[in-house]
Amino acid sequence: MKLSTLVDRISGEGAEAWDIHTKAQQAAAAGKDVIVLSIGDPDFPTPAPIIESAVNALHAGDTHYAAVAGRDKLRDAVANDFAKRSGTPCQRNNVFIFAGTQNALLAASLCVLEHGDEVIALEPMYVSYEASLQIGGATLVRVAQPADENFRPNIKRIADAITPATRAIVITTPNNPTGVVMRTDELQSIADLAIEHDLWVISDEVYADIIFTGTHQSIASIPGMADRTIIVSSLSKSHAMTGWRIGWTIAPELLTPHFDNLALCMLYGLPGFVQEAAATALTDQRNASKDMCEIYQRRCDVVCAELAKANRLVVLKPEAAMYVMVDVRGYGMDSAEFCRALYDNTGVSVLDAGAFGQSARGWVRICFTISEQQLIEGCRRITEFLRTR
Ligand SMILES: Cc1ncc(COP(=O)(O)O)c(C=O)c1O
Repeated sequence: MKLSTLVDRISGEGAEAWDIHTKAQQAAAAGKDVIVLSIGDPDFPTPAPIIESAVNALHAGDTHYAAVAGRDKLRDAVANDFAKRSGTPCQRNNVFIFAGTQNALLAASLCVLEHGDEVIALEPMYVSYEASLQIGGATLVRVAQPADENFRPNIKRIADAITPATRAIVITTPNNPTGVVMRTDELQSIADLAIEHDLWVISDEVYADIIFTGTHQSIASIPGMADRTIIVSSLSKSHAMTGWRIGWTIAPELLTPHFDNLALCMLYGLPGFVQEAAATALTDQRNASKDMCEIYQRRCDVVCAELAKANRLVVLKPEAAMYVMVDVRGYGMDSAEFCRALYDNTGVSVLDAGAFGQSARGWVRICFTISEQQLIEGCRRITEFLRTR
């Protein structure tokens, strides 16, 4: 039977990188001695008051269709929270509730990009961007942020990539996998380009609450940018709520009716009890991420200190998020080979960062989403594995 051409556009690369992770997860489920350092899913439980909020809503019969754009209470909570943190005015009508950052990104892509358009994304980039940004027929233009520039945005290279077909620039700050937090001057330069060339900026801010050094600033807070920025974010990382699938866009109001049409086809509204829980997360539980962030920071320090024992590894200390990037080429292996050999010899799974783009070839991404003791054991196995090489 004939399939649509869409199926090609959504079949991105990088599948091989996940093979080891999948194997490791299956082995862990079977009780084998493996240490999974390959997935960015917080190990913390969702804070209890958030769960209670959902359970109470369920018991109260909140099991029916909910407003497609999201409940007013939750949209207001997202708008108020963003306005307070960024100092940028934001109203309910700027907010649309989606099933996580991923779903919000898809909606943004489908509503602003189409055949004939080019979309610039800075790589290394999150693995699903390739498919999500090209799904509507646009062409992805990757702009490298190489390791020897500490994976920071290179404004000249972004400017050079802009053509008359460019419709949008996609940024991720804080970044997965590099942990880079964009500085005000970098955001301002990207904003200048967006304004000069009349471009959208899609800004993935899912790690905004997990910052170790520096501060998170949204590009939407730069004068002239709120009208052309679509922020995509969620509670997945900030409140350890990956499985709840709750996130949002913050965007110019003109997009709201179009998001509404799309979400009607795609979702028909998110579960009401999940929205109640999300509203609790953004109000009563707003500071829950602070404690998690402190723990992540400690774990990050532990991983960096442990891996420093392997003197041919180059470890890039992240400014944010939940990953450490490590250059393994000093041991004469490329990153894919390293990940395979490491897993086969030690049961430790890490991710080949090359899956995030060419700029990260030779690097692996290590997640610190497990306990400190397990991290120490994982790092011990890594350094032991390298001792004889
Ligand atoms: C940069 C980035 N964007 C989006 C996502 C997806 O997040 P969500 O669970 O909110 O859909 C992730 C998940 O790891 C991510 O790292």
